[in-house]
Amino acid sequence: MSSPKRKILVTSALPYANGPIHIGHLVEYIQTDIWSRFQKMCGHDCIYICADDAHGTPIMLKAQQEGITPEQLISRVSLEHQKDFFDFHVKFDNYHSTHSEENRIHATKIYECLKKNGHISSRSVVDLYDPVNKMFLPDRYVKGECPRCHAKDQYGDNCEVCGSTYTPAEVINPYSSVSGATPVKKENLHYFFKLDNFRDILQDWIKSESLQPEIINKLLEWFDAGLKDWDISRDAPYFGFEIPDAPGKFFYVWLDAPIGYMASLQQYCDRTGKEFDAYWSRDSDYEVYHFIGKDIAYFHMLFWPAMLHGANYRIPTAVYCHGFLTVDGQKMSKSRGTFIKARTYLDYLNPEYLRYYFAAKLGPDVGDIDLNLSDFRQRVNSDVVGKLVNIASRCSGFIYKYFDGKLTSRFLKDCQDIFQDAVRHNQQIRELYESRSYSHAIRVIMAHADATNQVIDTHKPWELAKKEASNYKVQQICSFGLNMYRQLAGYLKPIMPELAEKSETFLNVETNWKDLASGIPMPEDHMINEFKPLITRIEKESIDKMVEDSKQADMPSNQDPIDDEVTFEDFAKLDLRVARIIQADIVEGADKLLKLTLDLGKPTGNEHRTVLAGIKSAYSPEEIEGRLTIVIANLMPRKMRFGTSEGMVLAAGPGGKDIFLLQPDSGAEPGMRVK
Ligand code: 2FM
Ligand code: ZN
Repeated sequence: MSSPKRKILVTSALPYANGPIHIGHLVEYIQTDIWSRFQKMCGHDCIYICADDAHGTPIMLKAQQEGITPEQLISRVSLEHQKDFFDFHVKFDNYHSTHSEENRIHATKIYECLKKNGHISSRSVVDLYDPVNKMFLPDRYVKGECPRCHAKDQYGDNCEVCGSTYTPAEVINPYSSVSGATPVKKENLHYFFKLDNFRDILQDWIKSESLQPEIINKLLEWFDAGLKDWDISRDAPYFGFEIPDAPGKFFYVWLDAPIGYMASLQQYCDRTGKEFDAYWSRDSDYEVYHFIGKDIAYFHMLFWPAMLHGANYRIPTAVYCHGFLTVDGQKMSKSRGTFIKARTYLDYLNPEYLRYYFAAKLGPDVGDIDLNLSDFRQRVNSDVVGKLVNIASRCSGFIYKYFDGKLTSRFLKDCQDIFQDAVRHNQQIRELYESRSYSHAIRVIMAHADATNQVIDTHKPWELAKKEASNYKVQQICSFGLNMYRQLAGYLKPIMPELAEKSETFLNVETNWKDLASGIPMPEDHMINEFKPLITRIEKESIDKMVEDSKQADMPSNQDPIDDEVTFEDFAKLDLRVARIIQADIVEGADKLLKLTLDLGKPTGNEHRTVLAGIKSAYSPEEIEGRLTIVIANLMPRKMRFGTSEGMVLAAGPGGKDIFLLQPDSGAEPGMRVK
């Protein structure tokens, strides 16, 4: 069924130019890419735009740390990002940067227009200033004690312990996380965007468009909380664009980030001769869709449409939010090896496996999705290899060997019914793609793969061929199978474009949505090519290696990030007891170890333990024999090179002579609990 040609502009959020793409990012790029490829496959005029988000303090500081300019950093990262996207088949029509002339021009134009229309104000506020680094500190770079619950080391804008939000000026005993210095309070002029001027237009937008229900609820909460002025200026030193007529003041990164969508489009238009205004003018007949993560909805659903409207542009048709990715049910984690960079994944696995798996999990809602690594392997192997590609591999040999590679278009009656049923479902599958219900689309497609395999099993072409190799029925069944394969691989083309392309080469035919809707099989005597394996199974070993490699991800040597959180319950599991060191011995051949014999005291039934402790550089055996210390008494025995250690004594210090065994108060008795 043909439909009028739509004009569509689609974007994904712009990744920050200070770090690599990881599988968490890929949920969104894969989701958007599938949607864009689907629209193109339907014959619509769809362009998919993106760019690197290159401004802001973190990028400036990271470049400083590396001893390079921000420009050098962002150009290196941009190349890495683009290579990762390309290798994951994420196909942009244009990829640019927010640090570009196009963006400077559009950001300045929008700001000036907002100012002219009365949507910008300025006033002095009290900021925290780092006297050592000579910079105003963004909220995130101020740390200190929470003014509400008094938890230490909280960020300058919110407390991770009690969840309250506040201003950096309220933080108790603040310090700069850049230099460690105590910041000083300084009056400072800031520029603001008057968001509340757009309350009506934003409320209308919610009513008129097909936004996700969860997001509409969130927007209503924000309206109730009040639309506060948005602080859009930051002070030098800042990597960004200077605000016109405000020397030393820069646009906050989030002001020019979404304008980066326009900048990238501008570059695309300049390159292709298309007209920029056709997309963004108030009377544009383009549909504009932003795909984003739910964490940045506030920026895209309040500030961005308000800025656009205030600067006389059209507002987006819709903003589609997705949830976060967990791996094996938990937040991605470096120590577990589940913080997997795009490049690490590509070193071990085919990108289309992940595209398929994410699609099989993605729906139109904002729920989080889980990459369960064993389900991932099982699902891809069973669906893609075992069901889908199996159809092609089991049918092609007979056609190639016994029928000179030629197909017939006349199927057996039951096969014909299955083929037509699959064709009829094109409308449903199309609607499911359109509404981003990819997991549902996959279920429908795979049900047809099952039906195909079943009918082939019923007819058993291999037995017919044994009796008479060139039996016409064999050609009919296998031709049906290959037509079904074309239909189903065609339906999956937005998700697995490489598999689809290889399949088209093998079948010697191109497939677009109109072919899928036509119900016309490949013509009589159509010649196929010899079958070559189209995709292989996922081996467990590849996943294990990828996870192992991710644990050793190249961490800059001057960084040592905090490990994954443990819960209080985890911590409370440790049974810490006072113990007496009744004997200490040198361990033959070990440089650092002393072998301690501990008495855990009466309450434990005077249990004795052997513990190997790395304290030889700081203590001689004589010195510590008879002393009390603290031991983790319920640590599982651990086999080490020099014997088994049945617990661990608590000691701390930088090493060498400076290792200090924890020593309980003089009144302590072996066996007492330490809490
Ligand atoms: O949250 C982020 O990763 C931002 N870099 C997204 C920006 S999207 C758009 F506004 F530029
Ligand atoms: Zn708090």
